[in-house]
Amino acid sequence: MKFRTIEWKNNKVVMLDQRLLPGEEIYQTYSTYQEVAEAIKTMVIRGAPAIGIAGAMGLALGALSIKDDKKKSFLSKLEKIAGEINSTRPTAVNLSWGLKRMMALAQNHPSENVETIKEILTQEAVKIAVEDGKINQVMGNHGAALIINGDHVLTHCNAGALATAGFGTALGVLYAAWAKGVRFDVYADETRPFLQGARLTAWELSKNDIPVTVITDNMAGWLMKKGLITKVIVGADRIAANGDVANKIGTYSVALLAKHHGIPFYVVAPLSTIDLLTLTGDEIPIEERPQREVTHVGQTQLTPEAVKICNPAFDVTPNELVAAIITEKGIAKAPYPTTLKAFYNQS
Ligand code: MRU
Repeated sequence: MKFRTIEWKNNKVVMLDQRLLPGEEIYQTYSTYQEVAEAIKTMVIRGAPAIGIAGAMGLALGALSIKDDKKKSFLSKLEKIAGEINSTRPTAVNLSWGLKRMMALAQNHPSENVETIKEILTQEAVKIAVEDGKINQVMGNHGAALIINGDHVLTHCNAGALATAGFGTALGVLYAAWAKGVRFDVYADETRPFLQGARLTAWELSKNDIPVTVITDNMAGWLMKKGLITKVIVGADRIAANGDVANKIGTYSVALLAKHHGIPFYVVAPLSTIDLLTLTGDEIPIEERPQREVTHVGQTQLTPEAVKICNPAFDVTPNELVAAIITEKGIAKAPYPTTLKAFYNQS
């Protein structure tokens, strides 16, 4: 990739500021966990795997900042910091997954030496990022087999390099297919209100010379009816044990449209996005984001002052609309409660 979404550098976290794309490519450097938490909340970094990594790196910064050398009180302060970071975005399970992994490592480490634990936590956060990149490659290779020459692939939101520490989940499949010589083009839903499709997906695909056409979200149905879309491929923020998929608001509508038009709807996500403790999509918490994301584009206000605004950031697509879920363990198909669990048990 020609950019780095997130990096650990000299005990600081460096992130590409996604709020400024595509206009400006600015890297922000954070040296405290509070700054990282704020960066996650305000969408400097976004996308489920990327916020999982940011959370883990934020916790590593938090660990470095604790002045206590008694393990017990160090761990209780660390737990509090993990809770603060975790509260920034509730839907993507990767955030709590990364924080739990870090906390378990600290709690179960035999050393009583706090400095040793700090060092191990720092290494673990970097390891989570490296693993994510490798998982992207494996998922990409599994999923590439689904893409054929001449496909017109619709995607929603951004599930690419900007949402991971590698080349992406849904877009990773497309990058992998392209690298194998398969030729297709991509339609990117603009993805109101935060415009991850128009700003981010279009930016990274065009930077990598993959043909992309941006459409507004309400155009997908018509394009499908005209035979201009042959596949839909998206990422996920949390997948319940039964295969229900939480992803960016608008994904459910796309999945329904795809079903109606007989177009396969694929989801690409690492096992860290699958939450077997959440039995169905009804249990997935849906983040409500600030009203300003709907009322304004940049500094321009679109809506009258006194109207009510609703801004759920995600929706849930029921498993019966999902043709397959591509993970690093392979391609899962219905019945998802069995196939997803089997993948989990392999890990
Ligand atoms: O609000 P965002 O931009 O964090 O939402 C991101 C998405 O919904 C992505 O599709 C999802 O995290 C998958 S990213 C590999």
